[in-house]
Amino acid sequence: MDVYGLVGNPVGHSRSPPMHEAAYDELGIDARYVTFEPAEPNIADAVAGADALGIAGLNVTVPFKRDVLDLVEPDPLAERIGAVNTIDFSGDTPTGHNTDAGGARRALTSHGVALDGANAVLVGAGGAGRAIAFAIADAGASVAIANRTVETAASLAADVGDAASAHGLDAVPGLLADADVLVNATSVGMGEDASPVPANALHAGLTVMDAVYSPLDTRLLRDARDAGADTVDGAWMLLYQGVEAFERWTGRDAPVDAMNAALRARL
Ligand code: ATR
Repeated sequence: MDVYGLVGNPVGHSRSPPMHEAAYDELGIDARYVTFEPAEPNIADAVAGADALGIAGLNVTVPFKRDVLDLVEPDPLAERIGAVNTIDFSGDTPTGHNTDAGGARRALTSHGVALDGANAVLVGAGGAGRAIAFAIADAGASVAIANRTVETAASLAADVGDAASAHGLDAVPGLLADADVLVNATSVGMGEDASPVPANALHAGLTVMDAVYSPLDTRLLRDARDAGADTVDGAWMLLYQGVEAFERWTGRDAPVDAMNAALRARL
């Protein structure tokens, strides 16, 4: 039996175990997916211990995504983003990957969004925002990054390169006039009826994706629907980061529908 898992603190409410185990069940893979919650100073021991115990793969979440970068061999994308969310122990040395980026890209493309040549507006430049900014720019879109703290947006835009620009939140309505895609990567709307974007800046022809998944139907997504925009809820990013991790670990196509059903049953 192969053991996979999630390491973070806290991880008690994670939906990753049922999502991954639904994939194992669907494909008849003899594996389990469990959660681990080490105290923060022990993450290096935890990764070395997982390797020594023969654990096949680990997802990594808050607060360890940056620390793990120095504990594994990161791939170029994880290095650029500055965070690892997936460790593969199958080689001689553990390797680190970032499936949050590919997950965000697939969440959009699976909803018919063509990113190559698109104009995207990303609100938020924290951990989630960094991965999304690289995903969007690497797919050929321009990305205007707007953040409450403009300096953080500027530093992310400099890391992403020519496809990115940095703005304050007050620039968002103007930026949206020409935009094809809007992604919220701030925590605004999480557990609250609030939106980071004025409703009257949203319009038909725009696809709006929210990284917030609790609640699933955020104020931003409701405003977007009311404005005639297409919407992609936060469960899709969660799903596709798991799909990309599963595919990296097993080398098989993920049973996306089974994983999606298991995830949504718990949101
Ligand atoms: P995550 O890992 O989920 O991305 P994070 O790294 O703490 O979390 O990032 C949170 C993001 O939400 C940041 O972009 C933050 O803006 P700042 O960089 O200015 O802190 C944004 N954010 C949080 N609360 C906000 C609020 N009330 N209004 C606007 N942006 C907010």
